[in-house]
Amino acid sequence: MGIHGVKVKGRRSCVLRPRQGLPALHAVFNMLALSCIIISNLLPSAHGLKDLKIFVPEAVIMGNAATLSCQYDLEKAALYSVRWYFGQEEFYRYVPREATPTFVFPVAGINVDLTNSDATSVTLKGVTRDLTGSYQCEVSEDAPLFHTDIRSAYMQVIELPKDDPAMQVDKKVIGVNDNFKAVCTVGPSYPPANITWYINGRKVYKTPLQRITQDAFEGSTTYSSLEIYPHSQVLQGFFQAMPKYQTSILLLCEVSILHVFHKNVQQRIGLSMAPPTTISPNLLGLEGSKRYVNGDPDNSALTGAAQCSCSAIGVLTLAVATLAAAQL
Ligand SMILES: *[C@@H]1O[C@H](CO)[C@@H](O)[C@H](O)[C@H]1NC(C)=O
Repeated sequence: MGIHGVKVKGRRSCVLRPRQGLPALHAVFNMLALSCIIISNLLPSAHGLKDLKIFVPEAVIMGNAATLSCQYDLEKAALYSVRWYFGQEEFYRYVPREATPTFVFPVAGINVDLTNSDATSVTLKGVTRDLTGSYQCEVSEDAPLFHTDIRSAYMQVIELPKDDPAMQVDKKVIGVNDNFKAVCTVGPSYPPANITWYINGRKVYKTPLQRITQDAFEGSTTYSSLEIYPHSQVLQGFFQAMPKYQTSILLLCEVSILHVFHKNVQQRIGLSMAPPTTISPNLLGLEGSKRYVNGDPDNSALTGAAQCSCSAIGVLTLAVATLAAAQL
C-alpha cells in the first residue's frame, strides 16, 4: 500500500491504492483513506501554497527590458517549480532541487536575462512588439501534496512615434463669430496614440459646437481635428470675461500612449472681440449697452453702435453748452 501525491493543475489530490488481499487490510486502508482526505483538507490552511499573485508591466517600450514577477506564500511547504508561459508556451522554469535550477525554453522573440531571473521573477531583454500578450506564472509546491496554482496577466509592448506631434491652425486670431479649426498629428505608433485638446489647461470636450475627430490606422500617422463654432462653451467664457478688445488663449494638443508616453505641442491664439471699425458700447462702458443685454448677441455690436452715437451726441451737446456758459 502506498500514498502518492498526484500533481493536478490547480488543485491537490491524494491517492491510495489497496493491494488485493486480506479484508483486515481493507479496513486499515479505509481508515488511511479517510485520514488522507482529512489531512489534505486541513493542510492547506495549516501550510501550503497560497496567495499567488502575478505582476506584469501593463506597458513596456519596445527594446526595453521587462521584469515579470510572481509572489506566493508556501508557508511550511517547499517549492517544487515555478514555470512561466507566454500564451501556451513555457519559456522559463525554476526548479530549486536541480543542480542548475533555471531552465530556458526557446520561444520566438523571448530573450531571458538569466542574471536577473530567479524563483520569483523573470526578466526579458529587448522586448519586441510580438511579445504583446498574455503571460502566466504557475507555481507548484513539492511532495507530498504538489499544490499548484496559476495566474495570468497581459503585457503590451509599445512602439513610440518617431516624430514629435505637430499642430496647424486655420486662424491666428479668432473673432466672436468665427469658426476655428486646428489639426494635430503625430507619427505612427503602436498602439495608435490618443490625442487630447486643452485650452488654457482645461480639457476641451466634444459638443455640437466643439467638434473633435480622431483617426488612426495601424502604421500610419494619428490625426485629430478640433473645430470650434461661434458661442462654443469653451470660448464663450473667455469672450465674456475679456478685459480688453484682444486677449489670447493657449491651445494645447497632448499625445499619449497608455501611461508610458506623453508629449504635447501648443500654440497661442488671439481672441478678438469686434471688428475694429465698430465701437461697442459695452467696451466704452456706456449706459446704453445695458438695454441690449437680452438682445441678439450677434448684432450687439451694431445695435450698440447706434446707441453709442446717440449718447455721444448728448455728451457733445452738454460739452458745447458748458463751453458756451464758460464764455459768458
Ligand atoms: C486611449 O484612451 C482610452 C480611454 O481613456 C484608453 O482606454 C486607451 O487605453 C488609450 N489608448 C492609448 C493607446 O493610450
